Amino acid sequence: MSDAIEDFDAVDLIRIKRDRGELTTPQIRWLIDAYTRGYVGDEQMAAMAMAILLNGMERREIRDLTLAMIASGETMSFEGLGKPTVDKHSTGGVGDKITLPLMPLVACFGVAVPQLSGRGLGHTGGTLDKLESIPGWRADLTNEEMFEQMRAHGGVICAAGSGLAPADKRLYALRDTTGTVEAIPLIASSIMSKKIAEGTGALVLDVKFGSGAFMQDIDRSRELAQTMVDLGTDAGVRTTALLTNMNVPLGHAIGNANEVRESVEVLAGGGPADVVELTLALAREMLAAVGQPDADVEAALADGRAMDSWRAVIRAQGGDPDAALLVARETHTVVAERDGVLVEQRALPFGIAAWRLGAGRARKQDPVLHAAGIDLHAKPGDAVTAGSPLFTLSTDDAGRFDRALDALDGAYRIGDSGDPVLDGGPLLAGRIS
Ligand code: URA
Repeated sequence: MSDAIEDFDAVDLIRIKRDRGELTTPQIRWLIDAYTRGYVGDEQMAAMAMAILLNGMERREIRDLTLAMIASGETMSFEGLGKPTVDKHSTGGVGDKITLPLMPLVACFGVAVPQLSGRGLGHTGGTLDKLESIPGWRADLTNEEMFEQMRAHGGVICAAGSGLAPADKRLYALRDTTGTVEAIPLIASSIMSKKIAEGTGALVLDVKFGSGAFMQDIDRSRELAQTMVDLGTDAGVRTTALLTNMNVPLGHAIGNANEVRESVEVLAGGGPADVVELTLALAREMLAAVGQPDADVEAALADGRAMDSWRAVIRAQGGDPDAALLVARETHTVVAERDGVLVEQRALPFGIAAWRLGAGRARKQDPVLHAAGIDLHAKPGDAVTAGSPLFTLSTDDAGRFDRALDALDGAYRIGDSGDPVLDGGPLLAGRIS
């Protein structure tokens, strides 16, 4: 590739995709290489991204795009660890703290879990932001530290190094500002280039649909899931996906420190039913992918093994698992106006409200407020009485409450007993392999 930058012309390639043609393997390799070097400009890549969004790509083209993005940076390998590796990736949602109980749970079974994670942008939270509410915990590890921790404790959650698929980093930032994030070939190649470059042996994808998800529509989520499963399988990574419902926030906590607190409740054998259900389903799927389909994951949660594993990995990264988590300076509780049943609680507005309280960031460089967030006191289907608390908003700056409450206007509804509950159906809606 090093001498190939004269081989093609970006405008010709844009025209091919604009006119619904197929790009060849050498054309795609050249495009990504030339873009990474700055020979193809952002305006040309933006036009190409829009042409892909409008006209799509064949499976072979998506695979070539993924491989070209992997080739733009370093790849890692965990082969020397002497244990199988399995990772999980979620397309993101509101209250999605599943990585926190899941990683230590799966690590109990003699496998290694390399959870290379990110920080949140917009209304979906980031795993690293949540864990940084634990005093002393450190996200940035060297490759050697990561390897050593997986050898000693079976799991690590840390920041993905900037060396993995750098072409994706540039392309993702460009898509964010050109209305081209939602193209399935681009999302699938973006996510999978980083996961394949990371070197995991197996991967389970949690692909969400519904109001709080990246994709609202279950059929589009299914298509995204199948595209990613095919990419992983073609690259030799054992990949499966669960389609999961994100119409309603997951669990009772949305934020950072409060999501850590809820995750610890799950590790202690309690926690909300939906968080436990999804944690167990993903753990079973991950362990089946590495040859342990009968692993008793419930027992590992109930008998304290998963909690011991959590404490060990938090300590290994400088965190104090016994330290008190931050509590917000200001709270505001919203109560039910009448007796009835909570029939609707839409994930997206609650995600936006938590973000406006300071739990998330609008720009990459912004800090987050670790104690900001929302605690839900009732979930869809629960009976409520006039004056009973529905949810509590928390932040350090009371000036943020009004905008958060604006986001929640019409986001929940109390109906009568017997009214249909609008939660979009069961949590687990399908499996793709
Ligand atoms: N996450 C990614 O890493 N890439 C996308 O395109 C979308 C979500």
